[in-house]
Amino acid sequence: MSLDNTFVELDKAHHDRATFECGEEELNIFIRTQAAKHMEIGISKTMLLPFSVPLSNGKCSICAFYTIAPSSIRRETLPASLAKKLPLYPVPVFLLAQMGVHTECQGKGFGKVTLIKALEYLWKMNSYMRAFAVIVDCLNTTTEQFYKKYGFEFLCHHNGRTRMFISMRTLEQLFLPKN
Ligand SMILES: CC(C)(COP(=O)(O)OP(=O)(O)OC[C@H]1O[C@@H](n2cnc3c(N)ncnc32)[C@H](O)[C@@H]1OP(=O)(O)O)[C@@H](O)C(=O)NCCC(=O)NCCS
Repeated sequence: MSLDNTFVELDKAHHDRATFECGEEELNIFIRTQAAKHMEIGISKTMLLPFSVPLSNGKCSICAFYTIAPSSIRRETLPASLAKKLPLYPVPVFLLAQMGVHTECQGKGFGKVTLIKALEYLWKMNSYMRAFAVIVDCLNTTTEQFYKKYGFEFLCHHNGRTRMFISMRTLEQLFLPKN
């Protein structure tokens, strides 16, 4: 199967959500039944990497996707060195709400590419609407290791999950063009 190599906004008329399978039922259900609705009601945005050859139904399968939304955190959850410069009210952040790679594509670097694309998108958005960091709520301990590998740090426990963060300042170092 060939790929377009460009992440595009989820479009249920063109992308085959039913065949997405990443090994985590919560994420499968989200992309199949919720992601488009959440975009319609304006609470998150889902971007995906489609296969370029359509299925017999005319739609393209999804190789990988990420979902982002605005959010906020309590200042006290941040390390003291970062918290001390911030005001007392909730700190705006971007939430990397969901991310998954089709099982057929896993282990080939698409997870890394998807994460970098999501962070790059959010870093660009940050030039229009500021946020302090990107946060992610990890599904399990192995995904914690995945995000740690790419610079995320422990923030707090949230609804039974480990919440991790990467600051916009760190992303700036990664994405700001060097002179
Ligand atoms: C986690 C996931 C996105 C990784 O995607 P992938 O395409 O298999 O990952 P990549 O091939 O890009 O791997 C990049 C690196 O991360 C590592 N890695 C991959 N999956 C990992 C995992 N679950 N835990 C820890 N490290 C992982 C790889 O070993 C690789 O390291 P290397 O460059 O040193 O070899 C994918 O397995 C997935 O969709 N899982 C189910 C859904 C999920 O857990 N999503 C995260 C939600 S919080």
